[in-house]
Amino acid sequence: MNSPAQVNMQLDDASFRAISDLAYRESGLTLVAEKATMIQSRLRHRLRALGIDSFPDYCTLIGSDDGVQERRHLISALTTNVSHFFREKHHFETLKKMLDTRLPHLRAGGQMRIWSAGCSNGQEAVSAVMTLLEHAPEVADLDLRILATDIDPEVVSFARAGTYAERLMGGVPDPLRARYFEAGAGAEGEQEYTTKDLVRRMIRFNELNLLKPWPMTRPFDLIMCRNVVIYFDAQTQTALWPRFHKTLKPDGMLFLGHSERISDPSTYKFDCVGPTTYAPTPP
Ligand SMILES: C[S@@+](CC[C@H](N)C(=O)[O-])C[C@H]1O[C@@H](n2cnc3c(N)ncnc32)[C@H](O)[C@@H]1O
Repeated sequence: MNSPAQVNMQLDDASFRAISDLAYRESGLTLVAEKATMIQSRLRHRLRALGIDSFPDYCTLIGSDDGVQERRHLISALTTNVSHFFREKHHFETLKKMLDTRLPHLRAGGQMRIWSAGCSNGQEAVSAVMTLLEHAPEVADLDLRILATDIDPEVVSFARAGTYAERLMGGVPDPLRARYFEAGAGAEGEQEYTTKDLVRRMIRFNELNLLKPWPMTRPFDLIMCRNVVIYFDAQTQTALWPRFHKTLKPDGMLFLGHSERISDPSTYKFDCVGPTTYAPTPP
C-alpha cells in the first residue's frame, strides 16, 4: 500500500498541465499525456532533493520568482539526452566532403565554423572533430572551430569535462580511442576515456536555449541540429528554419536527425541536398 507521502508524489492532472505548459514556454518541449508516468518518475528525484512532498507544491515553486534555478533543473530533467558517437554516419561523410571544399580557404588563413545545436553530452561535436582530424590532420593548426550548445546545463558541464565511460564509447574504434582520448579508471572501476587537448581545443561548449535569441554574430558553414526538433511541435520547428537560414553561410549546410524534415524546404529558402541535409537555395 502507498504511504501518504507517496500518494502526494503522484503527478496529478493539474500539475502535469502546469509542468507541460512551462516546459513548452521555456524550451519548446511538447510533453504528451502518455509520458506522464515517465515525467513523474524523473521529477520525483527533484521533489525529494528539495524536500517537497507533493507535485502541487512543486508547481507553486516553479511558477514563482524563487523558482528560477529550479526551472533549469526541471528542463534538465525533462530533456532526452540520448546520443552516441558517429550517430547517423552519412552526415560525417558529407562533412568530409565539405572540408575538402573549405581546405584551400582554411590554408589561406580563413575560418570554418560548425555549430552542434542541441549537442547533449558532446558526442556529436567530438565525432565531428575526430572526422575532421582523421580526414585532414592539418586542421588542428587551422582556424576550424565547433560551437556546441544545449539548453541542459547538466549535459553541457558533462560535455566540457569530456569524460566518457566505456559504455558510452560504442562506435569509436580502438585507433581513434588511442589518438583522441586518454584512458583511465572510473570511480566504479569502469574504464573511462577523456578527450585529449587536441580535441578540446577545437570545441567550445555553452548553454543556449534555441528558443531564445542567439548571441552568435558570424554565420556558420555547418549547423548540426539533429534529434532535437523532434521534441518540438510544428510551430516551434517552422520558427527555427528561417533562423537557421540566417545563421548559415550561403554555401553552408544544415543537418537534421533521421526522423526530422523541413516539410516544405522551398518556403524557407532551403534545398534538400541529401538525407536530412539542407543547403540554402542559391540566390
Ligand atoms: C536527443 S539529444 C540529441 C543529441 C545530438 N544532437 C544527437 O543527435 O545525438 C536532444 C538534445 O536537445 C536538447 N534540447 C531540447 N530542447 C532544447 C532547446 N530548446 N534548446 C537547446 N537544446 C535543446 C536536449 O537538452 C538534448 O540534449
